[in-house]
Amino acid sequence: MTGESVLFDISVTERGHRLLAPHLQPGDFAIDCTAGNGRDTAFLLDRVGPAGQVWAFEIQPEAASRLAERLPGIRVICDSHGELARYAGGRQPAVILYNLGYLPGGDPSVTTMTAETLRSLRQALAILKPGGVLSVVAYPGHPEGAREAEAVRQFLEGLPAKQYEALTILQTNRSASTPVQHLIQKKKGDDHE
Ligand SMILES: C[S@@+](CC[C@H](N)C(=O)[O-])C[C@H]1O[C@@H](n2cnc3c(N)ncnc32)[C@H](O)[C@@H]1O
Repeated sequence: MTGESVLFDISVTERGHRLLAPHLQPGDFAIDCTAGNGRDTAFLLDRVGPAGQVWAFEIQPEAASRLAERLPGIRVICDSHGELARYAGGRQPAVILYNLGYLPGGDPSVTTMTAETLRSLRQALAILKPGGVLSVVAYPGHPEGAREAEAVRQFLEGLPAKQYEALTILQTNRSASTPVQHLIQKKKGDDHE
């Protein structure tokens, strides 16, 4: 990857991976909250290595089974990411990732939903390790996606700057349906409850 751009002429997914890579070390714990076909899950697994741990939430049983078969090294949780904190039980991931919307090539009616996504994001920020990073890609190109993208933006905008540094990347000279990548770091220190 040396010399390759982390920003330009790459897909949103690839850009996310390149930007997150320095924040994941071998042995880390990471969670993919929207596993789908597992591209992000596989990236997390590759970064944390055999000493690390990756959990993958996926609400669709068929996709969850496919993923468990494909990536036996991970824990697949066939439940909603709205239950994140209950599963984590006090464990603090270094990275938590969301790729919102519906499964490419799958049923577009099974999509992430605004209220549940916000419920999950609140939990994600609470359990994230200090210094850890939350990544959220939102897709405003379909009706629920547009509502969700706006709600996520407003939620992140309201985060206290003393506790979180929140960045947003999107292609400015594209249509309003262009995907939006948010990266939020939970600051170290004792400012968190
Ligand atoms: C855009 S896709 C994710 C793509 C995935 N990152 C990949 O590499 O293929 C979003 C996924 O989130 C799942 N999903 C929707 N609502 C969910 C929820 N509440 N909890 C967990 N997964 C959910 C969908 O079934 C879908 O597979």
